[in-house]
Amino acid sequence: MVRFRAPIAADLPALYRACLLTGRAGDDASADHDDPDLLGHLWVGPQATFDPALCDVVDDERGVAGYLVGVGSTSDFEAWCEQRWWPGLRERYPLGVARREADEALVRSIHRPEVTPAAITEVFPAHLHVNLLPRAQGQGIGRMLIERLVDRLRQRGISGLHLGVDADNARAIAFYRHLGFAEVAVEDDGGLILGLRL
Ligand SMILES: CC(C)(COP(=O)(O)OP(=O)(O)OC[C@H]1O[C@@H](n2cnc3c(N)ncnc32)[C@H](O)[C@@H]1OP(=O)(O)O)[C@@H](O)C(=O)NCCC(=O)NCCS
Repeated sequence: MVRFRAPIAADLPALYRACLLTGRAGDDASADHDDPDLLGHLWVGPQATFDPALCDVVDDERGVAGYLVGVGSTSDFEAWCEQRWWPGLRERYPLGVARREADEALVRSIHRPEVTPAAITEVFPAHLHVNLLPRAQGQGIGRMLIERLVDRLRQRGISGLHLGVDADNARAIAFYRHLGFAEVAVEDDGGLILGLRL
């Protein structure tokens, strides 16, 4: 039995953990990083904080089993991150400190975050990340989470939704395509941007 609810600040450690445990193209990324929080600082913390009303934490009898974080306006979100999210992390994670390359690459993204091109945000202003622990996968929860977000975005009159997915994450790509997402762009590293018009 699972329950959905909006995230609060006290959820961040559990959300960061779920992000890490599914962070290598859907699999456990723990072995890839010395710092277990860096993925979460980029891919779940700011999104869960920016507009919790577009996010769901998935609870089951063992605790947090995953989440979906949604952002209604990606360009407003990126501006908010510049003001509110990145400055503290840039002090905490200076560039050029000796650390393994996978961690350093994430630190570079904190200092020089990618800006989503206007060609994407104009058509698909919203974006999402969804990560379920293995025990919560394959039971229809991912579909429910996407449908809940789509309903909320439609209520706000938002015209489109996009997401980025690692080229190696064949399972997630098939899941999104099954739900109606289509390819919008291919990134330099082969990752896909998929979009859904609402
Ligand atoms: C990818 C993920 C979100 C999918 O959620 P899920 O709860 O496992 O998927 P669901 O059970 O809700 O599947 C929904 C539908 O997609 C279909 N589907 C799921 N995976 C599929 C696949 N690999 N190929 C084809 N269809 C697939 C299901 O059959 C189901 O169809 P139906 O609703 O028409 O019967 C989840 O597995 C997950 O969090 N994986 C690890 C983290 C991850 O990779 N996140 C995405 C990062 S971009």
